[in-house]
Amino acid sequence: MSGKSYKILISRVIPEVGISLLKDKCDLEIYQGEGVIPRQQLLQKIRHVDGLLCLLSESVDRELLDSAPRLKVVSNYAVGYDNIDVSYATEKGIVITNTPDVLTDATADLAWSLILAAARRVAEGDRLMRGKGFPGWSPLFLLGQDLKGKTLGVLGAGRIGTAVVERSRGSNMRILYFDRQTSDVLERDFSARKVSLPELLEKSDIVSIHLPFSRETHHLIDEKAISGMKKSAVLVNTARGPIIDEPELVNALREKRIAAAGLDVYENEPQITPGLTALENVVLTPHIGSATIQTRNDMARITAANLLAVLEGREPEAIVNPQLLKISK
Ligand code: DGY
Repeated sequence: MSGKSYKILISRVIPEVGISLLKDKCDLEIYQGEGVIPRQQLLQKIRHVDGLLCLLSESVDRELLDSAPRLKVVSNYAVGYDNIDVSYATEKGIVITNTPDVLTDATADLAWSLILAAARRVAEGDRLMRGKGFPGWSPLFLLGQDLKGKTLGVLGAGRIGTAVVERSRGSNMRILYFDRQTSDVLERDFSARKVSLPELLEKSDIVSIHLPFSRETHHLIDEKAISGMKKSAVLVNTARGPIIDEPELVNALREKRIAAAGLDVYENEPQITPGLTALENVVLTPHIGSATIQTRNDMARITAANLLAVLEGREPEAIVNPQLLKISK
């Protein structure tokens, strides 16, 4: 051993700012391979570490947690933590941390990129220009949806859902939201109305998803939900893929039961449902909601700082299972 206080596994190369926060105090092992660390390697390496800094592609389940006798903290390089069995980790006294706030604006910007691109058929136009070419201006060519004065429905009125609503100001949209909690900010500043899911789907021109993934939100947007949407509606998902029943969405888009969709996340990443890429009325991005230089640096800093804070007995900036704070001090 190097004489450094803690042994840490980092499951993928992250921006240098995170590494430099850790390297003086920790003995770091950084997985250098292409893509996701193979499960067997992860299970092997986790045996010897005090902390794991991982991505949403790593399943931190019972098997992994039971293979980690020294593990005190898992610092997830994401705000979402549906890849982690938080209740089992809590039972075992392992602190889980994440990266809220720092990726709110980047993700809200991406949601709006998808809203605009899907509503105005931007990707379809780009494909056409590069393929068949520009057939010339025409009154009925590539017509999309206006946004001004339309209704924006957000599923989830947390940080990102709120930031998406804030960005609708220029289009003077009516706002509906679906959430367990009442959002004072949305109601006060945007005259938003909290409604049931069926009402939101029935009345919204744009539906944007910003809920965490859980058993309750699995396939929340299924065949029945889609059938309650307007034929002219645009559905956007920058949250988690399994919130939408993806094969059902493919059917609905193919049959033009809704106008368009914009997706950044998929049910079985990195696989996507066959048929999706053949459709013109969907804009697809490869899970890049938080992919800006600034945001990824901020995520690296906060994951590293969270990890170190827990190991040194300090309160991390963001903790998923705060009930453990007393234990870890
Ligand atoms: C998250 O943080 O949960 C995103 O999906 C990845 O940035």
